[in-house]
Amino acid sequence: MEQALKTVADFRLAASKVAEPQAWEYLEGGAGDGCTAEENRAAFARLRLWPRVLRDVSEIDPGVDLFGRRHPSPILLAPTGYHKLFHPGGELAVVRAANRTRATLVAATFSTTALEEMAAAVKEPLWFQLYIQPDRAFTRRLIQRAEACGCEAIVITVDIPVNGPRDRELRAGFQLPPGVIRENLRELGSYTAGASHRPISSDIYTAVRACDATWDDIERIRSEAKIPVLIKGVLHPDDAREALRRGVDGLIVSNHGGRSLDTVPATADVLPDIVAALGGRIPVLVDGGIQRGTDVVKALALGASAVLIGRAYLWGLIAGGEQGAARVIEILQTETRMTLGLLGQADARGVTSDLIFGKTVRLRSAKGAGRAPFCASSLGES
Ligand SMILES: Cc1cc2nc3c(=O)[nH]c(=O)nc-3n(C[C@H](O)[C@H](O)[C@H](O)COP(=O)(O)O)c2cc1C
Repeated sequence: MEQALKTVADFRLAASKVAEPQAWEYLEGGAGDGCTAEENRAAFARLRLWPRVLRDVSEIDPGVDLFGRRHPSPILLAPTGYHKLFHPGGELAVVRAANRTRATLVAATFSTTALEEMAAAVKEPLWFQLYIQPDRAFTRRLIQRAEACGCEAIVITVDIPVNGPRDRELRAGFQLPPGVIRENLRELGSYTAGASHRPISSDIYTAVRACDATWDDIERIRSEAKIPVLIKGVLHPDDAREALRRGVDGLIVSNHGGRSLDTVPATADVLPDIVAALGGRIPVLVDGGIQRGTDVVKALALGASAVLIGRAYLWGLIAGGEQGAARVIEILQTETRMTLGLLGQADARGVTSDLIFGKTVRLRSAKGAGRAPFCASSLGES
């Protein structure tokens, strides 16, 4: 791995040069014209930070608290499928990168390494991302497996009930190569080496994600699970309120990195309304387009309790395996601490919308109770 790789963007460029072309199209492609994928980045870039001076930043603490556990950094690793497409080390290389950087990894249902094998290698908290399966008894077994191997939370992805139009990967004729197997779903036996991960039964449906999942599934899973249950892929405040009514423990504002439905809003744009809708009762995390420490701190300032990165650590994985993924995470952790220091904000938990120019109305978030609610319509009012 080249020494000259100093930013996440450097890693993207390096990865683009060595990635297997079909895997690259799968990784990079947004849905449709990629409007949302681009907009995720643009929305963070548009926000202007507003620093304060002459505050003691000799000890910067970027840590956050989630579900009773302290995370030394607010950056978690989003669930992403098929790591063996990107590097022969696959998910275990990412687990070791998470160990090195003390980051929490959300293991994907579509991992190419069995969850138990990942859990055996992990030293940091592991969460499990669930795609509700057409067979609900099998879904329950997946959750029980996650609990049995020590996962600390279940993240149910709800934003892709049918396939999105991934034109780039379709054009490239993307197929899972022989030997790259969804290990957690082995029991289903519904695929063969070389079979596409794309729809088995039709253009828009797939046999490995339930298209009939509803809030009742979420409520049932919540009532049966022994660990916190989050839902990932919420963009509408009414859905956030429904999640609260159904007893969900946390929420991830996400548009799947722009890979599901194109032209939905950027996550940074909807985050404040969702935070306001929940009024600090459960933590709200966010992902989509986070590639700089400034993005991380902006997300916290908009009310997020923590953030997740997706493509960024995969670029690291492609460019340099475990070491590359770890380096990308470290770069973002360092930039986050720098950003906090330069803003005059020593403690990440104290970050508020005051740190964003034009958004001085304070957020009520799960990070601190008793602050006045924020709503998008009040932007720039004071
Ligand atoms: C290659 C790839 C595979 C992904 N696989 C999954 C998945 O299996 N489950 C899921 O919930 N999200 C998946 N995602 C979405 C990520 O969890 C996350 O929402 C997204 O990558 C965040 O945006 P970013 O890539 O701009 O950081 C995937 C994303 C990518 C890039």
